[in-house]
Formats: sequence, structure tokens, C-alpha cells
Amino acid sequence: MGVGLDHLQGLYAETSDPWGFEHSAYEQAKFAATRAALSQDGYRSAFEVGCGNGQLARHLIGICARYTGMDAVASALTAARKTVPEGRFVQGFYPGPLPEGDFDLLILSEVLYFLDHAGLDQLATDIATRWPQAEIICVTWRGDTGNPLQGEEALNGFAKALDTHAFTCVSKTENYRIDRAFPEGDR
Ligand SMILES: C[S@@+](CC[C@H](N)C(=O)[O-])C[C@H]1O[C@@H](n2cnc3c(N)ncnc32)[C@H](O)[C@@H]1O
Repeated sequence: MGVGLDHLQGLYAETSDPWGFEHSAYEQAKFAATRAALSQDGYRSAFEVGCGNGQLARHLIGICARYTGMDAVASALTAARKTVPEGRFVQGFYPGPLPEGDFDLLILSEVLYFLDHAGLDQLATDIATRWPQAEIICVTWRGDTGNPLQGEEALNGFAKALDTHAFTCVSKTENYRIDRAFPEGDR
């Protein structure tokens, strides 16, 4: 089983910033590195699964004509809407329905290791079916996640399941890695 909804809600019970995204120099530098890892200067429409309180979206909104974020936790989305008023934010616990959109950028930052293998397979199927041409960016914590799946275990499972895309690691530190995927044969 992946990390349950109760656990996610518990993380946000006392604060809308459980990981200290807003003030952590480490997190802000990682968000900048994520933006730098993208292949283009502009996207038509981006979608982030597990967008949290919108701190990463704040770094990306300037290069996305439209941005949609989804998170399971309502209070995270309330904070995200304040941080990025021009974004569209929807509540949803994955696996479950994903929003409509003609997305050309999919952002999977620090979220894959909250799922289980069935959820990763489902996400790969959803992407291959609905957004097969999208660029995908994955950001992955390399330390202990405290979740049933470790970061690189989840990333590898997802990359294997999404055989329509080719993955390349574009940045790696002791703590995290950033991987980018394009449709097979595109680059
Ligand atoms: C570590 S935070 C990452 C936030 C943001 N993507 C970033 O990189 O800064 C993980 C977020 O994913 C959300 N999340 C985890 N599992 C989820 C699921 N199954 N469905 C929807 N959201 C989920 C959590 O509520 C949390 O806000």
C-alpha cells in the first residue's frame, strides 16, 4: 500500500508547510534546479501531481502559460492558491481521476515514493494514454523516505512502467536527483 490519505492529512494538521519549503534554502535551491532541468523556456500547460503548498509551482509558473496542481490535502491547496493565484488547483488522492488538460509538462516532484507499485503502474498507464507527448520531470529524495517505497525504488518502478518515455538523470546531489523523460524517439 502507498501512503494513506489519513497520513497525508496528518502531515498538514499543524502547518501548511510540513517540509519547510518556504524558508528552506535547500528546498528553494532544489526548486531552482528543477526549473533549470526543464528542456524548454516555455510550456503551454503544466500539471503537477502532489503539488503541496505551491512552492515549486511558484518557481515554474513564469514559464507555464497554464499550470494545474493536484494534491490530496485541502489545506495544502488553500496555501497553494494563495502562493500562486494564477494556478488551477484541484483536490484528488491518486490513484483516482486526473484533471482534464492538454498538458505538455508533467511534474512529479517528491511524490512517486508516496505511491505503491500498483499506483506507479497506474500513473504510467494514465500518462501513456492521455499525455504521451508530454515532457516529464521527476524529482526524487535519495535519503530514507520513511514510506513503504524508497525514492529511487519508486522512480525506477515508474520509469520501467512508462515504456513510452526515455528517462535521463539530469542532476544528482547527495540528497536528490532530477530525471527528465521524453517520448521515446523524440530526442
Ligand atoms: C513532499 S511533498 C512534494 C510537494 C511538491 N511536489 C514539491 O516537490 O515541492 C508531497 C506532496 O504529495 C502529496 N501526495 C502524496 N501522495 C499523494 C497521492 N497519493 N495523491 C495526491 N497527492 C499526494 C502530499 O499531500 C504532499 O503535498
